[in-house]
Amino acid sequence: MKILGIETSCDETAAAVVEDGTKMLSNEIASQVEIHARYGGIVPEVASRQHTLSIIPIIRAAMLKADVKWPDLSAIAVTNGPGLAGSLLTGVNAAKAIALAQSLPLVGVNHLEGHMYANWLTGNELKFPLICLIVSGGHSDLVLMKGHGDYSLLGRTRDDAAGEAFDKAARLLGLGYPGGPVIQKTAESGKTNVPLPKSWIKGTNDFSFSGIKSSLLRLVTENKEINKNDFAASFQAAVVDVLVTKTIDVAQEYNVRQILLAGGVAANKPLRETLTARSPFPVIIPPFILCTDNAAMIAACGYFRFRAGQVSDMALDVIPNLKLATV
Ligand code: KG4
Ligand code: ZN
Repeated sequence: MKILGIETSCDETAAAVVEDGTKMLSNEIASQVEIHARYGGIVPEVASRQHTLSIIPIIRAAMLKADVKWPDLSAIAVTNGPGLAGSLLTGVNAAKAIALAQSLPLVGVNHLEGHMYANWLTGNELKFPLICLIVSGGHSDLVLMKGHGDYSLLGRTRDDAAGEAFDKAARLLGLGYPGGPVIQKTAESGKTNVPLPKSWIKGTNDFSFSGIKSSLLRLVTENKEINKNDFAASFQAAVVDVLVTKTIDVAQEYNVRQILLAGGVAANKPLRETLTARSPFPVIIPPFILCTDNAAMIAACGYFRFRAGQVSDMALDVIPNLKLATV
């Protein structure tokens, strides 16, 4: 069963074809990162316009690369939230148009659920129950998954998301945008010698990253000569320690069989290495390209939804604050 996935929730226009939810036949991404870097962050209006320009060429490229024609497809899966309304609309409307013209079923996919399903494209056998740490630009969620579509949100951020914290720290240090990759690079030659607070919020599985951000701001403002490498290394180490410790704690509490990592921050090398080294449970992490926004993860998730009979109709709307729900 081949599914075309479409993803336009933020600043990547992406399309992909995935077979049986696990085999990636193509994964095309048109990144807008250079356009938004000029402004130090994503400009929603610019993002929507860019999606409008890229959506048809990127869908064509994904179909061509996968060597499939419309009749070869079983369904169209598209992200309908969470994300930027104007960005989401481009993908959803393109998906509806194709579904209507080609008489194909339409499957709306939650972007966060999609991030988790990037793990189904790794070739590993996934075993329930499992814990997934979703760390992206907008979320830091600890999710217990007992089966396909069966989610319990066990922990979340109370303020900034992990990716947002990386982006804000990079801005404070004058390192540019997006923050995650540049913090990681700058940290490579730094020492973890800057005292920064770690927020544990004891007795809960929740995260908080606003305290470390404020401390960083204070230290950067107070000190004229700062070593950016050391600041980046210390910041990254503190965030990684909290994410890894809390994920392993919750995995132990629920006695799961595996831990999955997902979302843009899952591309962070120290996070990947620390979680794998410290976890007593098998850890599965998607390859870098499937951690940040892509459409293969949407097609993979769409397959499992479609197989379970969860099809959308032409009234499918974009929901900018769509929550992860048990379906
Ligand atoms: O999942 P994603 O591509 O988009 C959202 O759904 O938000 O995540 C983007 C976030 C950004 O905040 C970016 O700084 C972060 O992921 N990120 C990283 C790395 N690569 C991307 N954070 C830490 N280390 C990285 N290597
Ligand atoms: Zn994302």
